Amino acid sequence: MIKRITSYDEYKYNYKKSIAEPDSFWGEVAEGFHWKEKWKQVHSGNFDAVNFKWFEGAKLNLSENCLDVHLKSNADKVAIIWEPNNPDEENRTLTYRQLHREVCKFSNVLKQLGIKKGDTVCIYMPMIPELAIVMLACARIGAIHSIVFGGFSAHSLSGRINDACCKLLITADGFYRGEKPVYLKNISDEALKNCDSIKNVIVFRRAMIDIDVVAGRDLFWDQLMLNASDEFTAESMDSEDPLLILYTSGSTGKPKGVEHTTAGYMVYAGFTFLNVFQYREHDVFWCTADIGWITGHSYVVYGPLLNGATTLMFEGIPSYPDWSRWWNIIDKYGVNIFYTAPTAIRSFEAQGSQHLNDAKLNTLRVLGSVGEPINEEAWKWYNEMIGKNNCPIVDTWWQTETGGILITSLAGITPTKPSFATLPFFGVEPVIVDNNGVILNDILAEGNLCIKHSWPGQARTIFKDHDLFLKTYFSNYRGLYFTGDGCRRNENGFYRITGRIDDVIKVSGHRIGTAEVENAINEHKDVVESAVVAIPHYIKGEAIIAFVICTKKINDEEKLGKEIIQIVSEIIGPIAKPEKVFVVSGLPKTRSGKIMRRILRKIAEGNPEQVGDLSTLLNPEVVEEIKAVFAN
Ligand code: WTA
Repeated sequence: MIKRITSYDEYKYNYKKSIAEPDSFWGEVAEGFHWKEKWKQVHSGNFDAVNFKWFEGAKLNLSENCLDVHLKSNADKVAIIWEPNNPDEENRTLTYRQLHREVCKFSNVLKQLGIKKGDTVCIYMPMIPELAIVMLACARIGAIHSIVFGGFSAHSLSGRINDACCKLLITADGFYRGEKPVYLKNISDEALKNCDSIKNVIVFRRAMIDIDVVAGRDLFWDQLMLNASDEFTAESMDSEDPLLILYTSGSTGKPKGVEHTTAGYMVYAGFTFLNVFQYREHDVFWCTADIGWITGHSYVVYGPLLNGATTLMFEGIPSYPDWSRWWNIIDKYGVNIFYTAPTAIRSFEAQGSQHLNDAKLNTLRVLGSVGEPINEEAWKWYNEMIGKNNCPIVDTWWQTETGGILITSLAGITPTKPSFATLPFFGVEPVIVDNNGVILNDILAEGNLCIKHSWPGQARTIFKDHDLFLKTYFSNYRGLYFTGDGCRRNENGFYRITGRIDDVIKVSGHRIGTAEVENAINEHKDVVESAVVAIPHYIKGEAIIAFVICTKKINDEEKLGKEIIQIVSEIIGPIAKPEKVFVVSGLPKTRSGKIMRRILRKIAEGNPEQVGDLSTLLNPEVVEEIKAVFAN
């Protein structure tokens, strides 16, 4: 049994213990999982040497912990409920026994195709149970999965495949998002023109749309599974064997392959799931995130299955066939715990309340929020309209790199406060640091959020680039993990995350790097240079605004804007599209050539009077020009 905290006093006691004696605390938590061999040391390493490890010396298998351990007493319990995009199509459920069987079969398929422990496998799939089956089969044989969100373009897909040297791609013919088809196989074919490492492609027929088949390379899921054995002994993995790579955006350069390892990730995902949401044995849990993001990895698949929970997977979108869809799903399956993003909440709020007319929502007990700061108004709407003032809201702050939730309340146990993530989870020691690297010890503080000590779910490296890992997260403030977020602490010691302080943008909760968008824009033949900033957007949280310098005088700026938006969609994916594009003759730069995005942001937000001191600029005159462009 995974350790469960059930009162505020227990939280306080255990939190203290987790900081004072982390090894003893985490050792006790880890006892709740299944190990083939126990660890020799709970934790080693530090943030100076960036060599932290957890549960070293142990042997385990994550898929065994998600499946086999539940077979004795819970084999017929539903593991996955799947709700299709189209409500008229039949839903599916898989019990733990059925899921185990499918995972064993697919593990044999992977083995037969020559996939071995340590190989990397790329997954580019819709939200269907087969996606979870592939993840668990990879974990079962010891292959490292790299999931690429189905909304990314061919270019993004090939970049990720090449970086991780994936041998195998698993995809589907396509799927529908509402009424819109997404042609995953066509996009994959396009991507694979530039990928030499891929030997085979496995295609799951989901949408029954026409696809091209490359003989010798492309194989079909149903044919491969037909004769596969349903027995497969899980591989014995070392604690620190890589489990997964997930690409995420940073301030600079290309997306980075964040690497999580087996034991620490497992313990952290399983333990946070149980305690943050206060999951109970017969709950139906629904996390609306796509599995292509870390939230989907940890809280659609691994966290719930480690706890033997019933997890709901939804293929569609909130507005199809209409805005009452999500509430219908909650009532249809009796969802007890519901976890979503502020952007979704604000989109519903903007629709009025008609979509809630037929909704009962009386099975809900806990609500969660993730991915971006939740504003007070959205928090209140969520609390009143969905929670009926009767469900604690956990505002969970975390990141791809953290593996699981780091700052949050525990549902119904620790206090909540609108727009505050509140208190640190066990073992997590947040510190607020000023720009000079001084830790602010006063209770009231505002600055850069760092974390002082390692926790088991922490990413261990960036795939094949440990120096970049070190530089990105551990070089800004010595001996501390730098999160990239700004943060405020109030008189109760509650943390309020104020948003990114680096050049990362959160559009509808999706994490996008300004440099990536700029590189894509610069591919346009008429563009010399560009700068991208985020401005507040009521529904999306943030929206992308692009400034471009062109090679020639542009007569039709609207047309250029459309072309640029198109290029960004093609190179990255539609989620990274700029909201607006402005043509300018120069960009404000420091004498060392750095673009002053702060100035652009102030102008784009409509606060040109707040641009501040321009004396350090190489070209202060462009600021007036840009202001004039906006004034029009
Ligand atoms: C932001 C998503 C405020 C934050 C799990 C972080 C949040 C980034 C919250 C990581 C929250 C996530 N309140 N901001 N509850 N949760 N963020 O890697 O800026 O996609 O650094 O992981 O999302 O985004 P990522």
